[in-house]
Amino acid sequence: MVETETFVTDAVAEIGDEIGDADAVIALSGGVDSSVAAALAYEAIGDRLTPVYVDTGLMRKGETAQIEETFAYMESLVVVDAKERFLEALAGVTDPEEKRAVIGEQFIREFEREAREAGADYLVQGTIYPDRIESEGGIKSHHNVGGLPDVVDFEGIVEPVRDLYKDEVREVARALGLDELVAERMPFPGPGLAVRVIGEVTEEKLEVARDACHVVEDELEEYDPWQALAAVVGKATGVKGDNRVHGWIVAVRSVESRDGMTARAQELDWETLQRIQSRITGTNENVARVVYDVTHKPPATIEYE
Ligand code: XMP
Repeated sequence: MVETETFVTDAVAEIGDEIGDADAVIALSGGVDSSVAAALAYEAIGDRLTPVYVDTGLMRKGETAQIEETFAYMESLVVVDAKERFLEALAGVTDPEEKRAVIGEQFIREFEREAREAGADYLVQGTIYPDRIESEGGIKSHHNVGGLPDVVDFEGIVEPVRDLYKDEVREVARALGLDELVAERMPFPGPGLAVRVIGEVTEEKLEVARDACHVVEDELEEYDPWQALAAVVGKATGVKGDNRVHGWIVAVRSVESRDGMTARAQELDWETLQRIQSRITGTNENVARVVYDVTHKPPATIEYE
């Protein structure tokens, strides 16, 4: 990549040329790619860009508040509280791929409504170079905002970071002064916590997964994992006071990886594992046990669904 500052200047000018006097929308996911694309486009066309953040209720602890804070300077920012609609759409859905489909569809519905309301002619997307290679090569489909262009009739699609690799996007994020948390954040799946609870997505399971993921990310920061997470994987018997209780099983996973295609389970020391266990069971009294996942990818995947 050319020098970061030159990239920013050129990208802003190019977006301005492409969009002209028209209006545009972008779906903000909280990830670094869409954050950088939004910041560049906002610099180019100001409030003619409507950044739309859909709060699916499947996000990490504090993530929505952090996104609102990071992008508060964009007056046109739209935050959609869609938590209840997502939970309703997911009720009774247990199959992992069906969950992804339901979430993708609901997301499109939410975004489409906002795009129409904004009267946008252009769609800005945070597609990066590896996304293009993977989609072109058919390696995996992208669940994030798949299919959007077909649904809303846009005049054009603008992809300002389409030639960048992830580490280059992070560099641009830092140059733009985007919050360090956004720039350094570990990858998080589009369907969010829904793929970190096995079976039906319920508010109770989401709460356990959200708190546990927070503990894991916090405790493992010094290990610098490629990705670290916790998932609600089932129920087991535990003991509270004199009683046997049936509580949640939380699986903790921390992996090293270059691109997520393969991964190695990370070796953690016993004290760290015990601290994680005690914080997770201490935060939620309905958790009966915490287990550590030692499986590499393959044969396991990184997420649980
Ligand atoms: P797996 O679980 O397949 O994950 O080993 C590899 C990487 O992809 C992320 N992931 C997803 N990302 N939509 C996404 O945008 C999805 O449906 C999805 N499923 C998994 C996962 O977090 C890891 O970084």
